Amino acid sequence: MRQLRLQQVFLRFVNVPISNLRNNFNGGYMVEIRKFHVSDISQIVMLFYETVHSVNKKDYTQEQLDAWASKYDEELRMESWKDSMSNNVTFVALIDGKIVGFSDMTQKGHLDRLYVHKDFQRQGIASSLINALESEASRLGLTELDTDASITAKSFFEHHGYKLVKSQCVERKGTKLVNFKMIKKLH
Ligand SMILES: CC(C)(COP(=O)(O)OP(=O)(O)OC[C@H]1O[C@@H](n2cnc3c(N)ncnc32)[C@H](O)[C@@H]1OP(=O)(O)O)[C@@H](O)C(=O)NCCC(=O)NCCS
Repeated sequence: MRQLRLQQVFLRFVNVPISNLRNNFNGGYMVEIRKFHVSDISQIVMLFYETVHSVNKKDYTQEQLDAWASKYDEELRMESWKDSMSNNVTFVALIDGKIVGFSDMTQKGHLDRLYVHKDFQRQGIASSLINALESEASRLGLTELDTDASITAKSFFEHHGYKLVKSQCVERKGTKLVNFKMIKKLH
């Protein structure tokens, strides 16, 4: 894992286009980070549902998880996410051609979604995705990124230098959920 991260740092320094990278680490997986294709959408929506209902379960109630990710909304979600992800800067992470994570930000630097497959947690996949987004944000001349981090993701964002602005309570389908406004200044 260390080797994966060192390679990413090295490759960023030599300015290799991140969408074409193939990161290798000994005895483990080959992780590829590339830009989103519209044909990725069904895998993304499936991963989103599974991740919320397994990984986020430790921090949110069943009612909150259902309000966040409902099976009934999948068709609609596919249509709306196809558009929003095409308009945003969106990266996916793949292992053996299968999507194991995705993340996107608006053109103004709001990091919108970041989800990693339940079976590939804590393997540096979200870090690879956020590195790709931050490199792209710098290339676009953005000076900061902000996000609304879940309780589950707060430590991850802190690890990457995001600072807590405020705790907030958002409403989804009449159910209240806590998340955190966080900001990172880019250099
Ligand atoms: C948050 C999330 C994206 C992190 O993905 P990941 O690929 O597991 O993260 P990484 O492996 O790149 O983590 C990098 C570092 O962040 C920190 N970190 C990540 N997850 C953490 C956790 N649950 N608790 C504490 N620290 C954490 C650690 O320092 C970690 O390094 P380490 O594993 O060497 O200790 C993932 O847990 C997820 O999909 N969560 C559910 C969806 C979600 O809440 N998304 C955010 C919506 S706003």
